[in-house]
Amino acid sequence: MQRKKINIGLFGFGCVGFGLYQVLQKTSGLKANIKTIVVKHANKAREIGLEHFSYDRRDILDDPEINVVVELIDDADAAFEIVSEALKKGKAVVTANKKMIAEHFTELLELQSLYHVPLLYEAACCASIPIIRNLEEYYNNDLLESIEGIVNGSTNYILSKTFSENLSYAEALTQAQEKGYAESYPSLDTGGFDAKYKLLILLAHAFGLVVKPEEIVNIGIDRLGDLDLSYAKEKTLKIKLVAYAGRNKSGRVQCFVLPKFIPAGHKFSSVDEVFNGIITQTSFADTQFFVGKGAGAYPTASAVLSDLSALTYDYRYEYKKLTQGERLENRDSVFLKVFFRYKKEHADKYIQLFEHIDESYANRQQAYVIGTVTLKNLHALHLDHEQNSFILIDLLDDNTTKKTKTTKQSYAYIE
Ligand SMILES: NC(=O)c1ccc[n+]([C@@H]2O[C@H](COP(=O)([O-])OP(=O)(O)OC[C@H]3O[C@@H](n4cnc5c(N)ncnc54)[C@H](OP(=O)(O)O)[C@@H]3O)[C@@H](O)[C@H]2O)c1
Repeated sequence: MQRKKINIGLFGFGCVGFGLYQVLQKTSGLKANIKTIVVKHANKAREIGLEHFSYDRRDILDDPEINVVVELIDDADAAFEIVSEALKKGKAVVTANKKMIAEHFTELLELQSLYHVPLLYEAACCASIPIIRNLEEYYNNDLLESIEGIVNGSTNYILSKTFSENLSYAEALTQAQEKGYAESYPSLDTGGFDAKYKLLILLAHAFGLVVKPEEIVNIGIDRLGDLDLSYAKEKTLKIKLVAYAGRNKSGRVQCFVLPKFIPAGHKFSSVDEVFNGIITQTSFADTQFFVGKGAGAYPTASAVLSDLSALTYDYRYEYKKLTQGERLENRDSVFLKVFFRYKKEHADKYIQLFEHIDESYANRQQAYVIGTVTLKNLHALHLDHEQNSFILIDLLDDNTTKKTKTTKQSYAYIE
């Protein structure tokens, strides 16, 4: 089969853009040439000669010789303008921008089908782990029951350093930024938004579900405090930010992004620093575990490279599962066993929202409970106060536990 020659217009020359430039220099087997690079700031120092750069997107979008646009910028709104125009002009697109994809998933599906052009985005989910193409191709006939992942490299780096080196949250975040693991806007990572965008993409390829970002509850790691960390350390647990999507007994899909306690020996307990990990559970293949670097210049560029290579033989996502007719479970039918820490003065109001309490503790200011709560009430509690923090213990099949409330008097007081 004659492989297509690729003439690239590259948007962005930051961590991933420069990474791709270097990776392409070392990949002589791929017939891909970067014709034009467009960046934003004209007065910035560059790793290569300024003659290679343009600051005008028209130099790529209006160039008929450029047949592939690689979009690696850190501005999701500008990225959508660029990507949608490129698709309308019949140019294939490779992007790593999960925020842009998640916010415009339906429009991007329509553009691909209307203009018969491929849009590939393996780098947008877990960087070096080839999960999207696996979900598209490999799991097509094997009934997928769930997919659970550590999908954000920078929060995993922060949490790992907090546990292994006792770094403070701020110190670990600074390190993650210095190493190029963190997004330009760190709250995208630490608030669980980046993980939510990735989960949204995974939902489409795993279950054929197209949802809007606001349909997925995301709680990040930015509210974790000393009490939460010392509780985990005392019980020899780690905390990981986990994205989950899976079918329940009624066949509906439950999904969320939450910090989760990970016991020693669990597959995720060895996924540290910038690594990502994904566990798939299927009817016939049973459990599979993918692990690889989830951020950084070369790991991310390697996924872009793989998409470019796929374009040389006209690969495109077929989105075969979109016709499966899957449905999201209602949030008030999703039951989670959680650790919930909150300000003690709110106890009466908050405990009412729990289905069941197993344990409860308090000191002078703070309290925590371990109990069962619906995803709907968990979200309400998250929004109620910025000091409320949740850590998932387990997703329950259904609410089989009897509704028994713990009263205020039964609190054990700790200092
Ligand atoms: N870093 C990672 O590990 C990683 C992993 C997976 C996915 N991603 C995704 O990859 C993309 C790029 O991330 P990054 O870390 O490489 O970002 P970055 O280092 O901040 O670089 C961003 C680049 O985009 C350019 N840019 C911004 N707005 C532009 C515009 N309107 N037109 C043209 N160029 C524009 C910047 O130009 P100037 O150089 O002139 O400022 C810069 O070169 C993001 O979508 C990110 O989510 C990153």
